[in-house]
Amino acid sequence: MPICLRDGVTTLMSDETIQRKVEHLEVALSDEVESNKISFWQDVELIHTCLPEIDIDEIDLSVSFLGWKLKYPFILSALTGGCKRAEKINRVLAEVAKHFSVGMQLGSGRVLFENEAYLHTYRIARDIAPEIPLFANIGVPQINKQNFEKIKRMVESIGADGLVVHLNFLQEALMIEGEPFAKDRLSAIENLVKFLSVPVIVKETGCGISREIAMKLKDLGVSALDVAGKGGTSMALIELKRAKLRNNLRHERLCRIFSDWGIPTPISIIEAKTSGLPIIGSGGIRTGLDAAKAIALGADLVGMARPLLLWAQVGTDKVIDGLEIFFNELKIAMFLTGSRNLSDLRKKRVLIKGQVREWI
Ligand SMILES: Cc1cc2nc3c(=O)[nH]c(=O)nc-3n(C[C@H](O)[C@H](O)[C@H](O)COP(=O)(O)O)c2cc1C
Repeated sequence: MPICLRDGVTTLMSDETIQRKVEHLEVALSDEVESNKISFWQDVELIHTCLPEIDIDEIDLSVSFLGWKLKYPFILSALTGGCKRAEKINRVLAEVAKHFSVGMQLGSGRVLFENEAYLHTYRIARDIAPEIPLFANIGVPQINKQNFEKIKRMVESIGADGLVVHLNFLQEALMIEGEPFAKDRLSAIENLVKFLSVPVIVKETGCGISREIAMKLKDLGVSALDVAGKGGTSMALIELKRAKLRNNLRHERLCRIFSDWGIPTPISIIEAKTSGLPIIGSGGIRTGLDAAKAIALGADLVGMARPLLLWAQVGTDKVIDGLEIFFNELKIAMFLTGSRNLSDLRKKRVLIKGQVREWI
């Protein structure tokens, strides 16, 4: 294997994977990657309670998730790790997770399988925030028996409390270097769950999880699901931008055709919840009101990725400020529905209109 210098670190292999990560980060900073033609959250309404009979400062946003007690129903969705820029981003994100006592998912740790030179870009999160629930991350294509030990070592060396397995077959099918091979992946997940002693969360990356797959994943012993549905960052639009940069007309066309693919986040929450597993509602959560709606539909936590990446470019205070505004919006939505805590909010009636209603 060639030794090369890329991204400032000598590496034995994965320069292509690392280069792709750097490119994904760059491209994700552009607004064209949000599939926000319509916000599915506009189709979900909470019903106003004109006399809520609570004071806003009594409202409790805390939640239990997989045995952790979190101050806010929030987890930072997976973004990065494994390239030079990732260290700074993960440092900022971990400072934020620590500030709010919420969970954090790291980006895919695939590069660590062959080269541990980038371990610090993930490990920084644990060093900064020793107490938070921290999740390592790997793509489902990488789950092979010969990798089980490597995955275990990755989780341990990062100091993670659990593993997120991400599903990204839309991206694999559209990406120029994609590997759209999904045979035997359910049994691979099942074997990995049995092999590891930490909780495994299965997560989509912008296309949502259906009821049928949620049920199957529950039977395999998965601990929670992160729906990451359609309505926020679109992997098809990210790949479209990359194809354009390469002047690759064939891939441009493919990405455009599938740019609207996926299950909208509100629908995916409703569907995945029928499994009975804890649910992270994510994919296009942009305001505290979106979060309130996601929780009212059955999500235990909400997650957010791209807005955090944008704020993190400015610094920790900017992300903290963004999330303070977000949690205040959530609190106001709870106040106006007369919800003293999140379990009250989950019992409130929700009105579903338009496209989301059609899906149901
Ligand atoms: C630059 C970038 C890198 C990402 N890398 C990962 C990853 O390594 N693993 C993963 O599970 N999801 C990854 N995602 C997906 C996000 O975690 C999230 O599911 C998706 O962006 C939808 O959430 P959003 O609409 O709040 O951005 C990535 C997203 C972006 C924008």
